[in-house]
Amino acid sequence: MTDQKIKVGVLFGGRSGEHEISLLSARSILSVMDPEKFDVIQIGITHDGSWLVGEDLLNQFSSEEKLNSLTTAMIFPDPERSGLYVIHPSEEGEIIKQLSRLDVVFPILHGTYGEDGTIQGLLELAEIAYVGAGVLGSSVGMDKGVFRDVMRANEIPQVETIIVTRNEVEQSMGDVIERAEALAPYPLFTKPANLGSSVGITKCVNRSDLMEGLLDAARYDRRLLVEKGINAREIEVSVLGNDDPIASVPGEVIPAADFYSYEAKYIDDRSELLIPAPVPFEVTQQVRNLAVRAYRAVDCAGMARVDFLLDKDSGELFLNEMNTIPGFTKISMYPKLWEASGLSYEELVTRLLELAIERRSERDRTEWRYQR
Ligand SMILES: Nc1ncnc2c1ncn2[C@@H]1O[C@H](COP(=O)(O)OP(=O)(O)O)[C@@H](O)[C@H]1O
Ligand SMILES: [Mg+2]
Repeated sequence: MTDQKIKVGVLFGGRSGEHEISLLSARSILSVMDPEKFDVIQIGITHDGSWLVGEDLLNQFSSEEKLNSLTTAMIFPDPERSGLYVIHPSEEGEIIKQLSRLDVVFPILHGTYGEDGTIQGLLELAEIAYVGAGVLGSSVGMDKGVFRDVMRANEIPQVETIIVTRNEVEQSMGDVIERAEALAPYPLFTKPANLGSSVGITKCVNRSDLMEGLLDAARYDRRLLVEKGINAREIEVSVLGNDDPIASVPGEVIPAADFYSYEAKYIDDRSELLIPAPVPFEVTQQVRNLAVRAYRAVDCAGMARVDFLLDKDSGELFLNEMNTIPGFTKISMYPKLWEASGLSYEELVTRLLELAIERRSERDRTEWRYQR
């Protein structure tokens, strides 16, 4: 019976620069969802932030053609009106109807308004189970500045960083340069605090690069980071779970450029993934332990891909960042590392949905009202 199947809303697209990557991830996820177990509803968010449902939605989102005969959809922040609603125009004004209940949502949205706690906040208010980290884990994972501070407080090794604001860059560039150059010799990296896919990141080898890098990063955020540049190997590991997270075998990225830039990630197909990462056993153990500690430190749930920089010169290992909604196509690092650890892509998707439902039940045990 249809009604006994789990109703899953797969949320894709979104307002961030990673909209297209989200569509690719969603396509892979949808292709493995067992129709015997799951009743799937596709929900697409346009670049402008409109929520839509309709026939053949993912294909419509993926083609260059104009979207047509789609219906506006919404989730109320009201648990009494839980589920997915649609809005139809009519002569008397708009008519709102419930389209379906939602047992769990898989927000496969990368970056701003997807991976940063905002959509998670809506789903919390609606009391709908969802895949991945909650509001706190998502937002701390997204903000590279706060993330470094939380990691340092937990004694998880971080590269040296300073945080500056856009105003400081615009009004006192000289002071910012002085602080940045006191951090470490060139190369330095400049980056916006809240973004992904290497957008706005520059490797600066001299002062003029640094000025350009700061101005470029300032296009994308109010807060920017300047970091000591590490001559690094890039090691990544997948973490899965709620209260008892586990780590996969680590992998290594060999970028097809001077660093793992936007071009090296998505355009130049010569970047390589090595699974497992050819590193000594102790490094593997250290990577897995640090990743799980970091995951717990930000109260992550569901999944995260945790990325490291391994200094080629000193052998030091730094935890660089945590991605709470990592790339999720069948050839992406996150699922590939699980496959190499014995969990297939399809099993992984099912496990994430189960973890989402378990986490919701755990939340439901909390008493919200004070009762004497
Ligand atoms: N401090 C650093 N030292 C050396 N390389 C860095 C440093 N910071 C970033 N990079 C390079 O830039 C890439 C993207 O930076 P990252 O902090 O991971 O941001 P994003 O969230 O955009 O992936 C990294 O994969 C790495 O290649
Ligand atoms: Mg990265």
